[in-house]
Amino acid sequence: MFNVETIRKDFPILSRKVNGKPLVYFDNAATSQTPQQVIDVIVDYYSNYNANIHRGVHTLSQEATDKYEQARQKIQAHFNAKFIHEIIFTSGTTHSINLVANGFSSILKKDDEIIVSALEHHSNIVPWQMLCERTGAILKVIPMNLEGELILSEYDKLLSKNTKLVFVNHVSNALGTINPIKTIIEKAHHVGAAVLIDGAQACPHIIPDVQALDADFYVASAHKMCGPTGVGMLYGKEEWLNKLPPYQGGGEMIAEVTFEKTTYADLPHKFEAGTPNICGGIAFGAAIDYMNAIGFETIAAYEHELLAYATEKLLEIDGLKIYGTSKQKASVISFNLEGIHPYDVGTILDKMGIAVRTGHHCTQPIMDYFKIPGTVRASFAFYNTKEEIDSLVTAVKKANMMLA
Ligand code: ALA
Repeated sequence: MFNVETIRKDFPILSRKVNGKPLVYFDNAATSQTPQQVIDVIVDYYSNYNANIHRGVHTLSQEATDKYEQARQKIQAHFNAKFIHEIIFTSGTTHSINLVANGFSSILKKDDEIIVSALEHHSNIVPWQMLCERTGAILKVIPMNLEGELILSEYDKLLSKNTKLVFVNHVSNALGTINPIKTIIEKAHHVGAAVLIDGAQACPHIIPDVQALDADFYVASAHKMCGPTGVGMLYGKEEWLNKLPPYQGGGEMIAEVTFEKTTYADLPHKFEAGTPNICGGIAFGAAIDYMNAIGFETIAAYEHELLAYATEKLLEIDGLKIYGTSKQKASVISFNLEGIHPYDVGTILDKMGIAVRTGHHCTQPIMDYFKIPGTVRASFAFYNTKEEIDSLVTAVKKANMMLA
């Protein structure tokens, strides 16, 4: 049975105060908090078996290697990848995207077309612009409507035999829209294009089945789903990962090195040059275990309740406008108070112990579309409560009175 008060006890940070008030942490889309179970795994690693992996015959190195590879298995099982070597450890979503974008430099030709969506984070725009600069490929954009949903009929018009790649996020970090990625993938495959899904904002709420989705690439970060920062993953279909060249050269990614020629290691090591974030990878596995023990269906249902409650209560405030009203939405609310800058609202909320993100959320094109400088964004996790939402509503009303 889901009991939020019991769950909250797993998160030491939730009992701290900020500016003399109990912390209300509503910046989960930026980074989630870490349960004691994951913190314990990190402490255990550095206390008991800190060693470099895949390199030593000594006991510590073997223990660290086993745990790291077990974490890879957990990630494979969670995302339902067909093969374990289709899971590449990276430093996070941005690294994963850049790895793929860089690899396509040697595949794309001038006038090939790449499609991104209007809802993308800068990390899913800039690497493709850089790729276009390198290759002469052309970037096209699926537009959105006022609800913050992608206009699929416009997507249909953009697709052609020239389309080589499509990049879309599973869930928008700024508006919370859940995109119809299965349809988007199917349509792209129809013209022979590969698809990368940015799952950074979906993975805290949804289990993506990469085989059922038929995604060519799917990327995510551990720190959005109760794991540590600095570690993430790239799932790629075996055939694609074999086609892409290595991203970085270095130790562990080689089969044989001579000054005349180097041959590369097999997957996944071909993409894992250098000493990785070993502890982070192991803790990523522990975070997946932790969330699965609660259950993603339970998490999604509870967060949906929080979203509906907060939406209703916030909309009662005079002059408050919510951006992103898609029917399919994760627990993210972006809003503004009429005539008041989001930074000013965020500053007042912080004084009351409430953590939200303010600004453009690394999605300037979305802000330009709505003709606003930014929003206040409250993003909820399964350890938040309706009482915390009441505190947010009271604080926003106060900010409205003070700043109007
Ligand atoms: N991409 C993260 C966010 O939306 C950092 O806040």
